[in-house]
Amino acid sequence: MIEIKDVVKTYESPDGELTVLNGVNLEVKEGDTVVVMGASGSGKTTLLNIIAGLDKPKSGKVFFDGEDIFSLSLKERALYRNKKIGMIFQFFNLLNEFTALENVAIPLIIGGKNKKDSFEKAEDMLKRFGLEKRKEHKPYQLSGGEQQRVAIARALIKKPKILLLDEPTGNLDWKNAEETMVFIKEKIKESNITAILVTHSYELAKDFGKVFKLKEGKIKKISVDKLL
Ligand SMILES: Nc1ncnc2c1ncn2[C@@H]1O[C@H](COP(=O)(O)OP(=O)(O)O)[C@@H](O)[C@H]1O
Ligand SMILES: [Mg+2]
Repeated sequence: MIEIKDVVKTYESPDGELTVLNGVNLEVKEGDTVVVMGASGSGKTTLLNIIAGLDKPKSGKVFFDGEDIFSLSLKERALYRNKKIGMIFQFFNLLNEFTALENVAIPLIIGGKNKKDSFEKAEDMLKRFGLEKRKEHKPYQLSGGEQQRVAIARALIKKPKILLLDEPTGNLDWKNAEETMVFIKEKIKESNITAILVTHSYELAKDFGKVFKLKEGKIKKISVDKLL
């Protein structure tokens, strides 16, 4: 489904050019669940942003179902993101002035669905996520774990082809992190979702799927036994 070919990404810095990804190759097939580990600053977020088409590599290509996403126009690429990608972030990125229900419904409304259907669908989703009693809460009235569940509902409501998770439990205490991860794994399994999880937690990575490590601009597969 996704093929990353020889991706190189550099940033300008005061000390000159900084090479973050230096020839990254990765293939993710439909139904795969892949973990990308790596120290802070190793380029994990950069890689996810490139897969989402939010950031452009200096060289190399990213194919989604055979299509080179950087040969698309900006508008087509925005559409690609809206239709095919679901993203979950460390800091939830929920809209504070909106309720849980509204946060989940917004991607559908933006996508052109009418309000009534969007809210019905969002309500259904919140129910499935055990949040029916929290739908009128604003994000700041929810626990960290609940906020992340709302963010997951929002990412999944459009049935993305692939889910990108950028340290989704990095901002939760141990107990909430554990519960949220169990929850994420359950949803992914239940709906056979293709997913790339970025984390630096061995605990979270160990039974998720194939594990890769980013280091010094390169990515390589590592065996799960090596994690422990
Ligand atoms: N917009 C940017 N401009 C300059 N340097 C950046 C930018 N974004 C990230 N970097 C640098 O690239 C490196 C990788 O960043 P990132 O992908 O966020 O790492 P990770 O998610 O693994 O912690 C870091 O050293 C960071 O400082
Ligand atoms: Mg990061």
